[in-house]
Order: sequence, then structure tokens, then C-alpha cells
Amino acid sequence: KGYFTYDPGFMSTASCESEITYIDGDKGILLHRGYPIDQLAEQCDYLEVCYLLLHGEIPTAPEKAKFQKIVMHHTMVHEQLHEFFQAFRRDSHPMAIMVGVVGALSAFYHDSLDISDERHREVAAHRLISKMPTLAAMAYKYSIGQPFIYPRNDLSYGGNFLHMMFSTPCEPYVVSPTLARAMDKIFILHADHEQNASTSTVRLAGSSGANPFACIASGIAALWGPAHGGANEAVLTMLEEIGDESNIDDFIKRAKDKDDPFRLMGFGHRVYKNYDPRATVMKQACDEVLAELGIADDPLLKIAARLEQIALEDPYFVERKLYPNVDFYSGIIFKAMGIPTEMFTVLFAVGRTPGWIAHWKEMVSGPYRIGRPRQLYTGKVARNLKK
Ligand code: CMC
Repeated sequence: KGYFTYDPGFMSTASCESEITYIDGDKGILLHRGYPIDQLAEQCDYLEVCYLLLHGEIPTAPEKAKFQKIVMHHTMVHEQLHEFFQAFRRDSHPMAIMVGVVGALSAFYHDSLDISDERHREVAAHRLISKMPTLAAMAYKYSIGQPFIYPRNDLSYGGNFLHMMFSTPCEPYVVSPTLARAMDKIFILHADHEQNASTSTVRLAGSSGANPFACIASGIAALWGPAHGGANEAVLTMLEEIGDESNIDDFIKRAKDKDDPFRLMGFGHRVYKNYDPRATVMKQACDEVLAELGIADDPLLKIAARLEQIALEDPYFVERKLYPNVDFYSGIIFKAMGIPTEMFTVLFAVGRTPGWIAHWKEMVSGPYRIGRPRQLYTGKVARNLKK
């Protein structure tokens, strides 16, 4: 009593019990509710995975139809939110907008929301999954000065997102089934990853009994950093900076130099000490999308593949067990789909929403107490103020 462990970065501290996601970092295994991520990505659509994370089982056909109907029925956001967007600078980073507008949703769902009621928790979960793509696409449209495009509930979840991103009132965007499926797959690959920084933030914020929409906004803030979700944007910037295969060695040298803050973006993971299983599926999806779009020889993909090969053979990366992670190839797919770099982390946030909300729901559905870490005080000893 009176002692506690000091564990900066939570290297060896379990903050909760959870039944949602299992990771074996040494073997490179990721299971959601027991199902391997590659099987989910190949055999399920995103809404089935959302349902699985929230409810523990793959939905039956009637359950799926009901869930899909609810989620797709609520894709619109309140018209007043349109006004909220207008107050942001035109050149605001879309993640900054997302932190604001998702937090603002809490104002629309507060007084009538009772988080001790299972039905209310479900409503919060469904509304967030419904509205995240709409808000994400609105952030993009705002940044390029185009009118917001209303959702189309007859499309798939991924297809509707592409529609809201790329249609204009003058010209509808014809959603290719392959690209819609790829979008769905990318969302699945991001859907949950147990107690990462953003999910832990959502749980910590939620542990005070705070409004779930505000808790998800706190998760979006934590996701933004380049060590977490911001890495997908940073990977593409890095690949563009490398520019040519002949420059790869210089960047590898910089990544190994302890006096240089540069890190190989999209490489390494706190938990995986093996190939990130999501990266394997992402690479396949990347090949499929580039083939669909007729991009045979993408120069960034060539640089990425060569960089990966060199790093996987370099003793520095081998000894530290640094492998490509989920962010390494996602940016190349996004770029090929015409999604601008600043939107990459927003897409991660859309995909991660069911994971965040499933963890919040799991926590507040059982007995929980406020998260309150201790500290090692290293300041002044007690002293008297003499003026
Ligand atoms: N490039 C060069 N060296 C690296 C890298 C990298 N990408 N990642 C880790 N290292 C080195 C690090 O310098 C340290 O070396 P040493 O033992 O000599 O001091 C060793 O590997 C261990 O690294 P760490 O920083 O102690 O590991 P961590 O678990 O605290 O950090 C990480 C994990 C993901 C933040 C880190 O690997 C990193 O910064 N990677 C690049 C950013 C990135 O791709 N992030 C996305 C993560 S996956 C998606 C997500 O979860 O959001």
C-alpha cells in the first residue's frame, strides 16, 4: 500500500479487461472477437465487422439488414452543423475540423442521452458510425470550396463515402464496386486495435461518465499524431520526399541515426514484433486498387516496396523487430483513389470509430471506475513562502 509501479508509455500495464480484440504481437496475430483479421477483411463487409465489434457475433441476415438500415438511415447530420464548418479557416487541417465537429455532435445528443441505459448506448454507437463518413467528407468538401454532398443511403457504407467525397451537384461520381469494396476493406483493417493511444483516450475520457460523442472527439485528437494514425499521412510525405529509389539508402541511414529525429514512417509498432497482419492485407488491397485503376507502375509503390525490402534486411531494423505496419501501404491506395494526403488520418478515424465506441460501450456497460493514473513527483520538496 502506498507504492505503485512506474511504467512510462504503459509498456507493461494492462488498463482494463476486454473481450473485443486479441493481439499476439510476436506471432503477428490480430483477432476481433476471435476471428482473424484477414478472414474478416476477405469475407465480411465493414458493417458486419462493426456489428461484430459492438455485439460479439457476426450478424445473421435479419440482424445485418436491421443494423444496416439503422446505420444508413442516420447518415445525415443536423443542418446546423453545416454552419459550424463555415467558422473554420479554409486551410484548416481536416483532423482539426473533425476534432471540433465530432465534439460538437455531443451538443445534439446530450440532455436526452442516458449512458446507463443500454438502448441509449446503442443509439450513440449507431449514430457515430452513421455520421462519421458524412462529417469526414464534409471536412474535405469544405477544404476545396465545394458544396457538401448529401449521403446516399442506397449505396454501401464505403461506396456512400466515396460518393460524398467525389460527387458534385453537377456531376455524380460513379462508384466502382471494386473501389467501394476496397474502401470497405480499408475501414475493416482500421476498425479496432485494442488499447492503442486513441482507444485508451476514449476509455479514459469515458471513465468520468462523459458524453460519448465528446469521448470520441478526444480519441480523434489522440489519433492525429504521427506516431499513431498520423503516420499514414507521414508515410506518403516521406515516400514523396525520397522521390527516387536511389535516395532510399540516405533515408535508411537517417532513420538509424540517433541524433536525427527522423523515423521510417509506417515502420515499427509497440505490440507487433513481427509483420503487422493488417499490412499484409493492405498490400494486397493496394495491388487490387492499382490494377483496377490501371496504374501499372506507380513510382511511390516501387519506392515503398524497395524501402521495405532494404529495411527488412538491415540489421538495425531486424534486431529491433521493426516491420511495416498498417500505415505503410494505405496511403498509396488512398492517393490512387484520389484522396488528398491531409484526409488519410481522417479515413483512419472513420474506420476506427466502431472500435472506439465498442470499447466505450464495453466499459460503461459493466462496473467501472474513473481512470486516474498516479505519478512520480520530481518537483520541489515542501517549502514555506516568505514574501
Ligand atoms: N524508424 C527507425 N527506428 C525506429 C522506428 C522507426 N520507424 N520505430 C522504432 N524505432 C527504434 C527506436 O529508435 C528504438 O531504438 P533504440 O532501442 O535503439 O532506442 C527502438 O526501435 C524501439 O522503438 P520505441 O520508440 O521504443 O518503440 P515504441 O513502441 O515506443 O514506438 C512506434 C512504437 C510505432 C511509435 C514507433 O515504432 C514509430 O515511431 N514508428 C513510426 C511511426 C508509425 O509508423 N506509427 C504507426 C503505428 S501503427 C498504426 C497505429 O497504431 O496508429
